[in-house]
Amino acid sequence: MNFPHLFQPLRIKGCTLKNRIMSTAHDTTLPTDGTVNEALVAYQEARARGGVGLIILQVSGVHETARYTNHVLMATDDAAIAGYRRVAEAVHRFDTVLFAQLFHPGREIAEADGGLLSVAYAPSSVPSERFRVMPQALRPRLIRAIVAGYGDAARRMQAAGIDGVEIVASHGYLPSQFLNPRLNLRDDAYGGDLDGRLRFLREIIADVRAKVAASFVVGLRISASEADDQGLTEAECTQALLGLGNGIDYVNVTLGTSASLGGAVHIAPPMTAKVAYVAPYAARLKQLLRVPIFVTGRVNQPQDAELVIARGQADVCGMTRALICDPEMPNKARAGEADEIRACIACNQACIGHFHKGYPISCIQNPVSGRELRFGRLANAVTARNVWVIGGGPAGMKAAAVAAERGHRVTLFEAEARLGGQALLAQLLPGRAEFGGIVTNLQREVARAGVTIHTRQRVDRAMIEAQKPDVVIAATGAKPYWPDFPREEALQIVDAWQVLREEAQVGSSVVVIDWRADWIGVGIAERLARAGHSVQLAVGGIAAGESLPWYVRDDQAATLHKLGVRVLPYMRLHGCDQSSVYLQHIASGAATVLEPIDTLVLCTGHRSVMDLTETLEDLPIDLRIIGDGAAPRTAEEAVFEGLKVGAEI
Ligand SMILES: Cc1cc2nc3c(=O)[nH]c(=O)nc-3n(C[C@H](O)[C@H](O)[C@H](O)COP(=O)(O)O)c2cc1C
Ligand code: SF4
Repeated sequence: MNFPHLFQPLRIKGCTLKNRIMSTAHDTTLPTDGTVNEALVAYQEARARGGVGLIILQVSGVHETARYTNHVLMATDDAAIAGYRRVAEAVHRFDTVLFAQLFHPGREIAEADGGLLSVAYAPSSVPSERFRVMPQALRPRLIRAIVAGYGDAARRMQAAGIDGVEIVASHGYLPSQFLNPRLNLRDDAYGGDLDGRLRFLREIIADVRAKVAASFVVGLRISASEADDQGLTEAECTQALLGLGNGIDYVNVTLGTSASLGGAVHIAPPMTAKVAYVAPYAARLKQLLRVPIFVTGRVNQPQDAELVIARGQADVCGMTRALICDPEMPNKARAGEADEIRACIACNQACIGHFHKGYPISCIQNPVSGRELRFGRLANAVTARNVWVIGGGPAGMKAAAVAAERGHRVTLFEAEARLGGQALLAQLLPGRAEFGGIVTNLQREVARAGVTIHTRQRVDRAMIEAQKPDVVIAATGAKPYWPDFPREEALQIVDAWQVLREEAQVGSSVVVIDWRADWIGVGIAERLARAGHSVQLAVGGIAAGESLPWYVRDDQAATLHKLGVRVLPYMRLHGCDQSSVYLQHIASGAATVLEPIDTLVLCTGHRSVMDLTETLEDLPIDLRIIGDGAAPRTAEEAVFEGLKVGAEI
């Protein structure tokens, strides 16, 4: 059998997991009014169809004071049962077990409700650093109501046919706030020594147990360490779990806390985190506890999950973003087709990146994720057409693969020697090598779909006129944009691409102009600082990495800080002369002069390559322009537009 440990069933109370692969809870932002909708059912059904053993449904609030975002699911009313039942039925059809998370954020209220900040509650009035919330200390009466909320929510989950619940004590949320002696300053029965601080959690477990059947699973998610000065330490977490005794049926181990920018990075660790880096924490708990241990964190391939289980570090392995990226991953692993898996690259761009912007979940590599109702099943083409795709970057590759899968005869032309476009450069940024996975994955999709590929082949109008393809999809990409500014060439001026391609000898004192505040400016600054250059990063926004997914941004901020890169926010490039760079503060208009400088690196965005498309305007052909060739943006738009056009034609 392939991956024998991973595909070993596991019995927990009344249910049997058919394998050890788990989709941990993740807020999809698909529900719009706090209840389960068809989009969420279709999303989870796709994961169940793909063969996952256990799905844990995204957080559900247990009390009115638990609304931490505007779209959080709420399990506070019996009217919610019908929606939960629809997910349970959809998932159970594929023998996948379903648990639901029971959630109260305490002071970690992330969003205002319709523009109005709600009152946040916590054990004591200790402010949260990340969301800048000053909570009110909970009074015993409200504590009792919240505890009852957990039990009532569990009862509703059971009534919906869900197999178990997971109490969220992880990531610095309310139960963790009670456990934490730096946040719980109470002098009543809910504070003080460990026994007092455990009381809230014990009461929750007791209330849940009292309201569900004995066979119903009651688990707990906890951060083995909250990885923050104010957060729970590994020792405190371990003591708390030992103090709970036999109260819970499994422990789901994660890391980090929502309460600080640094601690939150572990909620969805970026690609700089090592694969399976939480597993050693789980292994230490497994030595001490008698219940099954689950673990999650940067496990994106079945080979790695197999190792975690085979080594006995944990009993079940969370592979959450791996399943967002490829819901069919378990089926492929089981069938011995692991090479066909579209591996998650931990870019965080469209999964948690969308969550933080309030948009429905997706994946830059798998734009069908979160859009199952629209793209889940693509119809075969009515008539097979000759399709030419020009440009073998992410947009072109995706368009070619989808069109060919649907039955079109597709030829993909790439001017360079290799497919990949800008992704080949993006993977050269420090700590971003895994980004190259997008190229590997798309190359496989293109090959599997039977696309004819011509590399080192430019296409011109004459070729199109002569061979008359039915459809031309132009995915011709973009090139660096150099703004016009007063300059003296004595100062070396290069762009990010030249640095990454090592086409320029960069001087010792460098200014990086970062217009987009995305991966490129911070990455170039890091790369040069690591190579010993003195680097100043002038950002055209309020902070370095402002447009990045939060956890990528904050991880990168930590690196730049440690490397001593000087960040200048609110800056636009005004000009340069022999050894000075002139900047202007975007808000005040005041000048800043940086000197002595010997190299200016431009990370000033891109402009579309339109040399071909401009010559085709008057041709009577079906021409579609996608990706950066339509407007320079990111790989996410490129792959999405590839899917969209491939599905349309
Ligand atoms: C979009 C998104 C939303 C998340 N929301 C939750 C959540 O509701 N509850 C929770 O406990 N963890 C949440 N997480 C964390 C995941 O459960 C998981 O720990 C994280 O994705 C790391 O695992 P992975 O490396 O296998 O993806 C979320 C993660 C993502 C990507
Ligand atoms: S968007 Fe990136 S991190 Fe998120 S699931 Fe897709 S590949 Fe993984």
